[in-house]
Amino acid sequence: MNSSPTPDPLLLPHEADGIKELDNNLPRWWVWLFYLTIIYSVGYLAYYHVLKKGDLQAAEYEKEWKAGEALKSAAIQKFEATLTALTPSSDKQVLSQGMVVYTTYCAPCHRPDGGGLVGPNLCDDYWIHGSNYVDNVKIIINGVPEKGMLTWRGVLKPSEITSVASYIYTFRGTKPPNPKPREDQAPKTTGPSEFE
Ligand code: HEC
Repeated sequence: MNSSPTPDPLLLPHEADGIKELDNNLPRWWVWLFYLTIIYSVGYLAYYHVLKKGDLQAAEYEKEWKAGEALKSAAIQKFEATLTALTPSSDKQVLSQGMVVYTTYCAPCHRPDGGGLVGPNLCDDYWIHGSNYVDNVKIIINGVPEKGMLTWRGVLKPSEITSVASYIYTFRGTKPPNPKPREDQAPKTTGPSEFE
């Protein structure tokens, strides 16, 4: 727009594709904000990098991670203290959560139907580490790393462990095709856990 006959004194002598620039002063509030950021940066530098009073990102992360781990291991300990009183759940929601966990983490080794592959058959009456629900829960928590059964402590939440254990409990007595042959020493239906 060029309605005034004399050119605007603020107009700078350059243009690009018809776009011109006015040399306005920046608003005072903006300039002051800018100065404030400079002052702030001096304080920031002194606090974090010279006096080293504050935690940098990595240290802060480390702290939060430790706090999180402490929470997690407290929850696991609490859960493990109540282990022996656990019984399998038949709640539909628990079982469907258990199925999701099983399909995601366990089926590759134990087969989706529990018939056994790398891991043993979970459907028959023969158990390597005890047949009780609690024996199963303990094996899931601790694993048998030297035999290829992973340790799920800290990977799965306590609620996921009990739900997947409840889910595999429903395999008992089912007869999937081509099951893995029994790997135990003797059938067991009751009795104390042989795993501690
Ligand atoms: C990498 C393969 C692998 C994965 C994944 C795996 N297991 Fe296992 N599992 C095994 C093996 C191998 C054994 C047998 C350990 C032994 O011989 O002592 C086993 C044993 C078990 C037992 C004890 C069986 C018995 O006869 O006493 C249970 C229960 C079990 N697994 C449940 C699970 C659950 C639940 C998951 C998923 C959270 C899972 N496993 C994931 C390989 C696996």
